[in-house]
Amino acid sequence: MGTKILGTGVYLPKEVLTNEDLEKLVDTSDEWITTRTGIKERRIARRESVVEMATKASRDALSDAGVKPEELDLIILATLTPQMRFPSTACLLQAQLGAGRVYAFDVSAACSGFLYALDVADSFIKSGKANRVLVVGAERLSEAVDWSDRSTCVLFGDGAGAVVVGKSRDGSDILASRMYSDGSLKELLYADACGYIRMKGRELFKHAVRSMDEVCREVLSLAGVKPEEVDLVIPHQANVRIINALAEKLGIPKEKVFVNIERYGNTSAASIPIALHEAVREGKLKRGDLVLLTAMGGGLTWGAMLLRF
Ligand code: UT7
Repeated sequence: MGTKILGTGVYLPKEVLTNEDLEKLVDTSDEWITTRTGIKERRIARRESVVEMATKASRDALSDAGVKPEELDLIILATLTPQMRFPSTACLLQAQLGAGRVYAFDVSAACSGFLYALDVADSFIKSGKANRVLVVGAERLSEAVDWSDRSTCVLFGDGAGAVVVGKSRDGSDILASRMYSDGSLKELLYADACGYIRMKGRELFKHAVRSMDEVCREVLSLAGVKPEEVDLVIPHQANVRIINALAEKLGIPKEKVFVNIERYGNTSAASIPIALHEAVREGKLKRGDLVLLTAMGGGLTWGAMLLRF
């Protein structure tokens, strides 16, 4: 019995912050941001809390999956911007959804958080401990950004994405996955004492390309799948140059790599579920396709997962 993604959902705040808007805030330019990162605009949650965004994305995913909140056995929420120190954002989401006294917890793995959470969900499904799991990535990064630091404030955006996973009887499955961490590299990307994101961008860039390339190869080899057999790659959206370098190293053509960073920037744990949802809606990801997900972020953490959608 496999693990199937039964439905996907997103919530993106309405307010758009463009590169031109940022030119008025810090010493930057649309030209620099576009050529160095691929980002044109990002969403900002002025009014929405991280729980509100997670709730809307979750309702969207539950309705797409045809699953009622009370049918869930487990909620796993990945975020680096939790609403409170405790209770967990997953517990706050449980209450908003009216999901019953469900098992609920947060995963803290920065930009790899959604992949970590989906991997845990897969283990619960395969072990028989859960039948229906809600996996959410939700971030309000605008509150973790130092708006006077041009090296980071142009990169991030807010949003939430969710999937509902359950038992598969039709060949859909999570075929292979590998997750890693290396805390000795924590200085490359972390939140300072004020909670602001700090990064050593150039070094991180190299680690991102190398680690995602290695883990993608490992996962493909575990599943006995060649890069050319992959129908779609959905990478974490941190920088379009990282994505292009990764695709080139893997020998996967750009047309098979999903990119939406130009509209949302880096939404950390929300980036993969938002991209997954859009790939399905745009007809780029169809049932039966082989899709490779990969992410890298603060920790450092990184991982990859191959699924038959
Ligand atoms: O999500 C987790 C994973 N995240 C990542 O992996 C991010 C990885 N890193 C990156 O994506 C890139 O390193 C950045 C986009 C963060 C930076 O791009 P870069 O090409 O590595 O630029 P840089 O940091 O080497 O800076 C180049 C120049 C510097 O000026 P000097 O020293 O050459 O005079 C910066 O001060 O660009 C300057 N700069 C800017 N200029 C205009 C840095 N930020 C800006 C800015 N606008 N916003």
